Amino acid sequence: MNDYATLTIGEKTLKLPVIIGTEGEKAVDIRGLRQETGFITYDPGFANTGSCKSAITFMDGEKGILRYRGIPIEQLAEESSFVETSYLVINGKLPTPEELTRTSVMLNDHSLVHEDMQIFYQNFPRASHPMGILSAMVNALRSFYPELMNTDEGFEITFLRLLSKVRTLAAMSYKISRGHKVIYPRPDYTYCANFLHMMFDSPVKPYVLDRDLVKALNVFWILHADHEQNCSTAAVRTVGSGRANIYASLSAGIAALWGPLHGGANQKVIEMLTDIHEKGLRVSDLVARAKDKKDPYRLMGFGHRVYKTYDPRAKIMKQVCDTVLSKMEIKDPLLDIAKQLEEIALSDSYFIDHNLYPNVDFYSGILLRAMGIPLNMFTVMFAIGRLPGWIAQWKENLDDPDQKITRPRQIYTGQNQADYLPMALRKKS
Ligand code: ACO
Repeated sequence: MNDYATLTIGEKTLKLPVIIGTEGEKAVDIRGLRQETGFITYDPGFANTGSCKSAITFMDGEKGILRYRGIPIEQLAEESSFVETSYLVINGKLPTPEELTRTSVMLNDHSLVHEDMQIFYQNFPRASHPMGILSAMVNALRSFYPELMNTDEGFEITFLRLLSKVRTLAAMSYKISRGHKVIYPRPDYTYCANFLHMMFDSPVKPYVLDRDLVKALNVFWILHADHEQNCSTAAVRTVGSGRANIYASLSAGIAALWGPLHGGANQKVIEMLTDIHEKGLRVSDLVARAKDKKDPYRLMGFGHRVYKTYDPRAKIMKQVCDTVLSKMEIKDPLLDIAKQLEEIALSDSYFIDHNLYPNVDFYSGILLRAMGIPLNMFTVMFAIGRLPGWIAQWKENLDDPDQKITRPRQIYTGQNQADYLPMALRKKS
């Protein structure tokens, strides 16, 4: 194959360099296009645009492959912990035992948040969505913990501080929203165990940790740790490209994740399944609505920009759901409905032709329900899991000499030059 592509526009023929990634994906480098021809490309949603080179995550949407730093997600879900996977995603290699211990110690050391931050929570209206609160609180962290020097040590502390404190902030927001006492992390608990402790322990009813739930939470967060250039990661990189600090960049990522077409889908899936259960809606009617082009309705938890086959994360999530629910002897009718919905959708020609399969959000809510996580915290759970990815992508963007401030072009379709009309001359509508 040529190491360039040829593009002819009018009289001009251009040789555009071809870039090939380590797994064989091919890209045409169009950086010289506008300067040479005056043309730009048009690609809404950037579905065909590579915005960066990245060594963090590899996805093959046709084969359903997901790897962090080369390691398949299935192996990480089976063997790793969320802390170890976070280290891998951020640092590019698995930690040695000493490095993992040091990371765990630092996560513990940085797990408290400034007491003054509790006052912020008191002033959000009770009905505020926790994602809005989390986005604001992460931005506010910058005022309490200014970024350190741009040294390896400075970055390490900032990154671990974020991983640890965002988890604490999330649990605090739940406690405060319920009017309950904030529970502090325990130094003898691991990262995931501590989150469950801070969420569910109470002075009058101590929370008894369940090893299987801790393991399931590890897997849940591992599955969310990174997903290359998705909407929220693109937001983190975009904000970071203007050299905004990492707290502001992550705050933007959280805001982007909130959307129901992105991370907010995990909440919407459960709302959809609950509607089917409680309102007695028929699964086949919802499938018919999702297929009707005149109806904007979509099956939540189905479809993905990159995966054109079963999302490998959804496969693992479904297995974990089955294991946890049967171990805890929970009979959740929503799991049965989800399986029924999946079966009907996957045998329907519309879903087959459109390559629409369950994505990570389809089964994740059922697992979170089994853990006792309230519905409005589901996307917050996703956000905590995505932190290592956002952090790694923010840093990679900062270090990449090819990167510039993100500033796409547009094709203007508005009115041509027009004169200002004084008010007295304007017609009444
Ligand atoms: N239900 C019914 N039809 C769908 C669905 C769905 N869930 N998803 C896509 N389609 C159809 C579209 O109507 C379109 O059909 P057409 O070509 O006949 O017009 C076709 O499939 C392609 O859809 P697009 O919206 O162009 O695909 P895109 O890649 O832009 O969107 C997205 C991907 C946003 C995930 C979409 O599949 C969707 O809205 N899914 C439901 C929300 C969801 O589950 N989001 C979570 C995604 S995973 C994550 O972000 C963590």
